[in-house]
This record gives sequence, structure tokens and C-alpha cells, in this order.
Amino acid sequence: TNDIKESSEGTQADLVARLPTREGWSTPLTLYNQCWLRSHMLGKFMAVRDNLRPRGDDIILATHPKSGTTWLKALAFAISNRSRCSLDDDDHPLRMTNPQKAVPFIGAVGGDLEYLETLPSPRLLSTHLPLSLLPPAVSTLGCRLVYLCREPKDAFVSRWHFENKIGTGGPIGLDDAFAMFCQGCSAFGPFWEHYLQYWKESLSRPGEVMFLRYEEMVSDPVEVANKLASFLGVPFTQEEEDRGVAQQVASFCSFDSLRNLDANKVGGVERAGGKIFLHFSSLFRKGKVGDWANHMSKEMGEELDRLVEDKFKGSGLVF
Ligand code: A3P
Repeated sequence: TNDIKESSEGTQADLVARLPTREGWSTPLTLYNQCWLRSHMLGKFMAVRDNLRPRGDDIILATHPKSGTTWLKALAFAISNRSRCSLDDDDHPLRMTNPQKAVPFIGAVGGDLEYLETLPSPRLLSTHLPLSLLPPAVSTLGCRLVYLCREPKDAFVSRWHFENKIGTGGPIGLDDAFAMFCQGCSAFGPFWEHYLQYWKESLSRPGEVMFLRYEEMVSDPVEVANKLASFLGVPFTQEEEDRGVAQQVASFCSFDSLRNLDANKVGGVERAGGKIFLHFSSLFRKGKVGDWANHMSKEMGEELDRLVEDKFKGSGLVF
């Protein structure tokens, strides 16, 4: 196929076959360029670095899984499309389908690279890939990035629930999942490398990379909506401020509001030839900060805290 390139060491397929692969979570994972990817997605994600053609005015929403991707997509989509469609309209795209479908995933769901070429600028795109697997032009062209991360214990618990809902294999126990997460072995992991790559990018390109945390979105979603609008180049006007548009957006995108839309209660998407079925409803679980304590022991919490402290030491990134 086109994906297979000849090289002095053999074909890309040979290379892939030699990469470390592990069972675990809901699907097997393969280590590529120091990042664990779902094995069935490997070819598509390997193609991104060479074949995605970034444009200087692209806006990319980058998240580590279970950090609030769905929420961020909803906010960014609602804000950047508000001159075209009002949230009051019955046929607003966010009322018709899940936010995950409203913003394409680069190289994955709804985001085939050929299709992305056809989108008008400025494009609103999303990815779970670490920065190191995106084309270097993302940085050199000055593409705007919004990175969202989440306190690792909560992110882990959210992921453990999620993986047990989507996979077709047996359930993975909390202890096994925890051990793999702490080894860095989870899709798009190690999580600390992911956080750190985007953190460093936000320090080196401060005006072009917005670094967000799930916890600040929970504590002040209106403030985040305001910050996002300015960052996306479409700040709320005085007239919109008077009408409370930022509040309206934040409230429409709140956990209870999105979860209760028909489009998010029913339906879903099949992925990876049936290996995964994602019910949209499984993207809305609890939406709380600190839920880890209801699932992990105090000792596990301390272990992960120590790991996080060690991995982020000296970076300025603190949880
Ligand atoms: P929990 O499992 O802790 O509830 P992602 O979208 O990256 O897959 O992240 C999913 C997490 O974000 C889940 O966390 C989910 O409940 C939460 N979430 C989804 N929509 C949300 C919203 N509108 N507000 C707050 N949290 C939301």
C-alpha cells in the first residue's frame, strides 16, 4: 500500500513488526517514537508527521485522553462558530451530534489527512498525539495550540472507567491498569512526556500556545470561555458581554447540559473495524475533580503523586 515505504532496512511493515507491542487496557498498544499508540491506529498516526500539511492559521486542540477533550471541543466549536450558528438554534451542530465529531481528530476519527486538506481556513482541528508526532511545521509556522491536561490521578481513574466501556476484550482491573499507567504504558503515553512536551512548547511560544487544565475549567468555565475566545481571535464584543454570551456558551457546554442532549444520550461510533465501540454517553461520566479518591487507595494516590513530582521536577509544571 502507499503506507509501506521501502527503506534500506526494509519496508515500513517490517519496522512496525519489530516495534514493542503489549496487550493491556482495551486494545493492544505499540511503542513508536517513545509513544504508546493503539496498534490498529499505528499506520494512520505514523503518517501524520510526514503527510499532515499544517497551515499557519490552524488551531489545534491537543489533549491527553480523558482530560476533557469533549468539553474543550464543544467550547471551542461554539465560540468560533457563533457568528454562523446560534446555540439557540435547534439544528446547531452541537445539538445534532457529539462534540467529538464537530472537531476532526487529525489522522483519526473524521480527520483523514486528505479530507483535512479540503477544509477552509482557519481550520479547527484536534489531536491526542504528542507534539513529537506532529509535523515540525506546527511549531515553525506558529500554529496556535490549545493544550488541555488534567490532574493525573483523576485522569487515570477516568481512563480506567472509559477503557472498560469501549473495549471488546475483558475488563482490566484497577491494579493492572495503574501499574501500566505508572510505567507510561497507556495510549498516547507516557502521560508525563505528553504533558511536558506541550508545557515546554507553551513556554517557548507563549502567545501561540494556551496551556489549560481541566480543574481551572471546572472552577471558572466562563473565564475560560473568555480566554479561549480571545485566544481563538474572536473575543466577545461589548454587546455580547452585555448579552451574557460567554455565560451562555459555558452553560450550554456544561457537563449536565451536554450529557442531556439527545445527540449525546444515544448513538456512537464504531472504530478500528469494530475493535472499539464508543457510545457517546460514555464520554460523560461524572465530570468531577477529585473522584480518584473514590476508586484509588490513599497509597496508590501517594505513589502516583511521587511519580508526578519526580517526572515534572524542575519543569515548573506542578499538580
Ligand atoms: P470523568 O470520567 O472523570 O467523569 P475526554 O473528553 O478527554 O474523553 O474526557 C472525559 C472526561 O471529561 C470525563 O471525566 C467526562 O465525564 C468529563 N467531561 C465530559 N464533558 C464534560 C463537561 N462538559 N464538563 C466537565 N467534564 C466533562
